[in-house]
Amino acid sequence: MVHLLYPQREFLASIGREPDVTAILGKIRQHHLGTYQHSCRVAHLAADIAMDLGPAEGDLCLLTRAGYLHDTGKLIESVDLLDARRKLDNYEKEEMHLHAFWTIFLLTQRGYNPSIVGIAGSHHEWQSDPYPRKNTSSREEPNVIGKRRVESEKHRTLSQILALADHVDALATKRAYKDPFPPATIEQILYQDFTGEQSLIPLAMKRVS
Ligand SMILES: [Fe+2]
Ligand SMILES: [Fe+2]
Repeated sequence: MVHLLYPQREFLASIGREPDVTAILGKIRQHHLGTYQHSCRVAHLAADIAMDLGPAEGDLCLLTRAGYLHDTGKLIESVDLLDARRKLDNYEKEEMHLHAFWTIFLLTQRGYNPSIVGIAGSHHEWQSDPYPRKNTSSREEPNVIGKRRVESEKHRTLSQILALADHVDALATKRAYKDPFPPATIEQILYQDFTGEQSLIPLAMKRVS
């Protein structure tokens, strides 16, 4: 189970009500309730972890918005695939992996702030099997839309916090195809699979019980 350490309910809710966020979050809710709930939890957990680092208010807002919008690309994925209760075959896995690319595409197309696009779009790039980039070492190269994914050291940290919150939520909550993992297993998986700054892992694990 994941619990938050900072009482910032109204702040989180107010970001979730911003027109730029609700425009897409409402569509995600209509398309797939589980993805909507996951997006809210990830936004809240990412902001809570970031609070331990004493972020500037603007960075906290940016990270929270990116958290709400990080799985926008799942709007392109079929509900059957999102709800599959079986192990996905290779073709289906590739299809699911495309959601990170679609997040970048859709948010860029709609004119979202490039920092939000970069942080949201890189949420699967701090793992041993990164995507949309296939190779961790190419993360800094120009991407398909001609920009670096994360433009500064500060955004790299925000991007890593979001990736970690996303991973923790996926491991700690029940999904159609799996039960929640116990904390010790979650910690072990994070140390094996998270390729961002390892000192962030204990900050996430403080919130898992
Ligand atoms: Fe994702
Ligand atoms: Fe996610």
